[in-house]
Amino acid sequence: MSSYKEKVEGCVQQIQTLIDGFQPEVGIVLGTGLGGLVDEFDIKYDLPYEKLTNFPLSTVESHKGRLIFGYFKGRKIVAMQGRFHYYEGYDMKTVTFPIRVMKLLGIKALVISNAAGGINPSFNKSDLMILNDHINLMPENPLTGHNEADWGDRFPDMFEPYDPKLRELAQEVIKEQQLPVHEGVYASVTGPNLETKAEYKYLGIIGADVVGMSTVPEVIVAVHMNLPVFAVSVVTDLCYEGALKPVELAEILENAKNAEPHLSKLIGGLIQKV
Ligand code: HPA
Repeated sequence: MSSYKEKVEGCVQQIQTLIDGFQPEVGIVLGTGLGGLVDEFDIKYDLPYEKLTNFPLSTVESHKGRLIFGYFKGRKIVAMQGRFHYYEGYDMKTVTFPIRVMKLLGIKALVISNAAGGINPSFNKSDLMILNDHINLMPENPLTGHNEADWGDRFPDMFEPYDPKLRELAQEVIKEQQLPVHEGVYASVTGPNLETKAEYKYLGIIGADVVGMSTVPEVIVAVHMNLPVFAVSVVTDLCYEGALKPVELAEILENAKNAEPHLSKLIGGLIQKV
């Protein structure tokens, strides 16, 4: 049986033969409802997940499940349209498999987007928030078990998981393009249920500005591999007292979609500066 490392490397080798020496510089993970950003890419290679050796398969309908290689704002990118969530039943090593693959394909930076619930009472629907920190409330960690020393340290430091230089460049984009964007803390939960009123209140008390069901495992693996990471949340529902009400997935997707023009300007502007 091949090891996890061999599985990742096998996938990388297969992809390299499929993309003919194309060398992506930046990796992008497109979150729930944010796959439309792909319309702005100049696509060179479009690889459905099911064609990729050892690659997990996406089970959520709102995620299409393909790895896209091409250009965005003139930069060479690889983008995941459809990510893997813990709530789908994958373990954390499977959830983060594509991050390992993209790093070994040579990306120099990773940009992650996600849909999240807004806990900070100053946030509105479809607002963007750049992550400057997180609180990991997920019960499993992608780094447990054998540590591949070639990939990273046993005990990765988490002083600054979100690359300060990338955040600084994003702030330049925000100023230049006058984008309304917050910065704050993302709390990760497993889902798939949303939170109770008491849980949202608790998340605010412990210091979260938004809550979501993804991103943190991917960020941990990026940090482990010394890959600079930038992450941004789209606020898809409001979870603070006075604004909280039952939500529908359709509404979450619609609010994500409404944020796409700003998200595209932010990510596009950042990529040009990386
Ligand atoms: N909670 C958790 N995850 C989410 C939410 C939420 O309210 N909204 C979008 N993703």
